[in-house]
Amino acid sequence: MNVPLFENIIKSHCGLTFDGTRSQVLEKVVLERMAMLNLASPEAYAVLIQTSSLEMETLVSHLTINETYFLREPASIDLLTERLFPEIMAHKAAGERIVILSAGCATGEEPYSLAIRLLEKFGPAIVNFTTIIGIDVDVRALAIARKGIYGRHSFRGVPPEFKNKYFDKVEKNLFQIKECFRKQVDFRACNLLKIKELQDIGAPIDIVFYRNVSIYFNDPVRRSIFENFSSVLSEGGYLVVSFIEILHHDFGILSLNEENGVFFFQKSLQLKFQERRKWRGPAVEPKKRPDRLPASKTGPMARLDQTPVEKSIVPPSATGLPDRVADREPALVVDARQQQRNTLFAQALALALQRKFAEALPIIRRFVQENATVTAGYALLAAVLIELRNHAEAKTVCRTVLQLEPWHIEARLLLGLVARQEADAKEAQAQFMEASYLDPKCWLAHFYLAETYRTVGNRPLAIQEYRISENILKNGGKPNHGLTLFPLACSAEQLLHLCSTSIMRL
Ligand SMILES: C[S@@+](CC[C@H](N)C(=O)[O-])C[C@H]1O[C@@H](n2cnc3c(N)ncnc32)[C@H](O)[C@@H]1O
Repeated sequence: MNVPLFENIIKSHCGLTFDGTRSQVLEKVVLERMAMLNLASPEAYAVLIQTSSLEMETLVSHLTINETYFLREPASIDLLTERLFPEIMAHKAAGERIVILSAGCATGEEPYSLAIRLLEKFGPAIVNFTTIIGIDVDVRALAIARKGIYGRHSFRGVPPEFKNKYFDKVEKNLFQIKECFRKQVDFRACNLLKIKELQDIGAPIDIVFYRNVSIYFNDPVRRSIFENFSSVLSEGGYLVVSFIEILHHDFGILSLNEENGVFFFQKSLQLKFQERRKWRGPAVEPKKRPDRLPASKTGPMARLDQTPVEKSIVPPSATGLPDRVADREPALVVDARQQQRNTLFAQALALALQRKFAEALPIIRRFVQENATVTAGYALLAAVLIELRNHAEAKTVCRTVLQLEPWHIEARLLLGLVARQEADAKEAQAQFMEASYLDPKCWLAHFYLAETYRTVGNRPLAIQEYRISENILKNGGKPNHGLTLFPLACSAEQLLHLCSTSIMRL
C-alpha cells in the first residue's frame, strides 16, 4: 500500500504526522476500514476519504491520540484561576462574557477541570458570564466528552474528594460529571487547521488552552495553527500550552510571558514582530544526543540489561522545566533566578547522562532544596541516588514525589526498580502494577511487571505482561516508557525482540 499517500492526505487535513510505528498504525486502520466498506483497493479508499467528510472523520478518529486526565498540569490551571481569568474579567464590560476554549479537548477532562476550578474559585455565578467550549477533530472523543462518564484512568491525577464532590457514581469504577458542568461546557467538532471552523466557534476568544496537541504536528503545521489562534484571540487574550510545547511555539506571533515558572502566550498589539526578533537572543537548540553511553548494570538508566540501550540528553523543557534565552523587553523578562535554577537542573541532568553521578548529586540536591515543589528535580535526584546505591534515600525521595503528585508514574517505576535491586519481588510487583494502572499504555511498567513475575516463577502472568508490552510497542507506544528523564533510544524492533525472546525463554 502507498502509505505515504495516506500520510500526506491526513497531514494536510488535520496536521497529524506519522513516524515509523505510527505509519504502521495508519496502514492497519486503512486496511480495516477498506475491509469494513468492502473496498478492494487503497486508491479507492484514498478517493473516498477525500470526497466523504464522514469517512474522513471516521478515519481520523481512529488515528488521534486522546490521552488526557483531570487536573493535568495543575500549575497552568492555577495560572488561569489566579492570574489570567481575573485579569480578563477586570477588562470586561458589564454583561460581556469571557470565552474560554479548550482546543484539542479529547474526551473532555480538560474543559471540565477548568470549569470545576473556576467554580471553586469564583462561585456558581460564574456560569452567568463565562462560556467554556471544548473542541476536537475527533467526533468519537467528543461524544464521550458530552456524556461525561469516566473511569479510573481519567482520575489518576486527582484527590478522592475531587471525584466524590463533582461526580456521581454510575456503576463500578465509572463516574459521571455532575449535570451542571455538562450543561456548562459546550463541545463542538472543529479542525484547528481550518481557520473558518475555528472562527465559527465564536471569536473573539479570551483564553485558549492548547495543551498536548501540537506534539503530533510538525513545525509548519504548528505555525499555521498558531496563526489561526492569533486571529481568533481577543486583544490581550491568552494562550496556554503545556511545558514541553513552549519552545516549539516561540514564533514571535504571540508574546511569551512567564509567571511563577509557568510560561504562556498573549496577543498584544504592542508586540511588533520585527522588533521582538531583534531583541531575542539566539534560539535554544535541543542539545545533541551524546554517543552511546556505557550501560549500567544496576541503575535506572540501564534497566533493560539484555539490550544495549542508548540514552539521549533531553532538552530541559522536556522535563517540565522550560529553558529559553531571556527576551530583553520588559514584558518578556524571564526571572534570572528561574534561569539559574533551570541551568542547575540541566547541569545535573547532563552529568547524570555522562554517568558522573557523584558530581551530579550536590547539584541536583541544591536544585531540589531551592525548588521544593518541582517533581522533576526529585525524580532526577532519586535516579542519581539509585545509581549511587543509596536506596534508602532514593525511596524517601520517591515518596516525597508521590506526596506531591500521587499519580507520578516515574516515582512508581523508580520505587519498583529499587525493590527489584533489593530482591523484594512483592514490593516491585506492587509498584510496577501501580505504574501500569496509572498509565495502562506505559509499556515499561508492563515489561518490568513481566520481569518480576518471571523472577518469582509466575509464567502465565509474565507472558501476559510481555505480550501487553509487545502490543503497546507494536502500536507505536515506544515513547511512552514513563522514565521521562532518560529516554530510551533503542528501536521499537529491538524492544520487541527483547519481549519475544523473553517469552521464548519462559
Ligand atoms: C493528547 S490529546 C490532549 C488532550 C488535552 N488537551 C490534554 O492536555 O490533556 C490531543 C487531542 O488533540 C486532538 N487533535 C489532533 N489534531 C487536531 C486538529 N487538527 N484539530 C482539533 N483537534 C485535534 C486529538 O483528537 C486529541 O483528542
